[in-house]
Amino acid sequence: MAIWNLGSINADLIYAVPHLPTAGETLAATAMDRFLGGKGANMSVAAARAAAHVRHIGAVGADGGWMVQRLLEYGVDTRHIARLDGASGHALIFVDAAGENQIVIFPGANRAVPETAIQAALAEAGAGDTLLIQNETNGQALAARIGRDLGLRTAYAAAPFDATAVQAVLDDLDMLILNAVEAAQLEAATGLSPAALPVRDVIVTLGAEGARHFDTVSGEFRDYPAVPVTPVDTTGAGDTFTGYVLAGLDRGMAMPQAITQAMRAAAIMVTRHGTADVIPDLKDVLAARFS
Ligand code: RIB
Ligand code: NA
Repeated sequence: MAIWNLGSINADLIYAVPHLPTAGETLAATAMDRFLGGKGANMSVAAARAAAHVRHIGAVGADGGWMVQRLLEYGVDTRHIARLDGASGHALIFVDAAGENQIVIFPGANRAVPETAIQAALAEAGAGDTLLIQNETNGQALAARIGRDLGLRTAYAAAPFDATAVQAVLDDLDMLILNAVEAAQLEAATGLSPAALPVRDVIVTLGAEGARHFDTVSGEFRDYPAVPVTPVDTTGAGDTFTGYVLAGLDRGMAMPQAITQAMRAAAIMVTRHGTADVIPDLKDVLAARFS
């Protein structure tokens, strides 16, 4: 099976700072690095490192060749990434000494993914494949509708959160992944708690508290504790979790095993500086010993 991921691709400029800057402040960073990033690219790399076959759908600008090249090196199928004029997506990321971050994104090419690229890609998809969407591109509603029509497992990682965008695709989803704040915002917008959403599986991530999975068919939920680690850089940890969960399911794991493995991958990610380039592979995840 394959995972089709309609997702953003960003050049991440990551500045390590003693504290997150306040208005009007000029601050000296202690380190600065460029990584492949974007929530979509991070999820693709995570799923590929978890041994899934990943086909990325997206767009980069004229300055984005190195990012497509890196995705390719990391084992992601890049045939359906459009090369556009203009700038690629960028993210300016500040990470403080406690591992907390602040992110400003410039969407660039991510918001101009040609509908024809989405259609051409998904024309190759088959029943049993997974479609993953998130919120840093255009085209989510189109992709979700095609995904439902083809009988794909359609999953939405609803970040950055937009209640209207989520509501527009809710009926086409099999799985929704969001954090507790987003779940509360969605409940305020729809009047529906996670357990009442018309989506079979809902995973609410709770940061250091772990995650809760709602099986809305049985009406039951199950809690998964987080793996305790000392955070160095939380950037990309949520994306790593999502990529690992979907890769696990795609490879035939049951939900509890997929979530547990994804928790471990995300925990390792929190101990590493950077984004897609440093996402742990399955070997690291299986070998990790957490105290
Ligand atoms: O979730 C982390 C990601 O958010 C970064 O890689 C950055 O590009 C932004 O999209
Ligand atoms: Na990190």
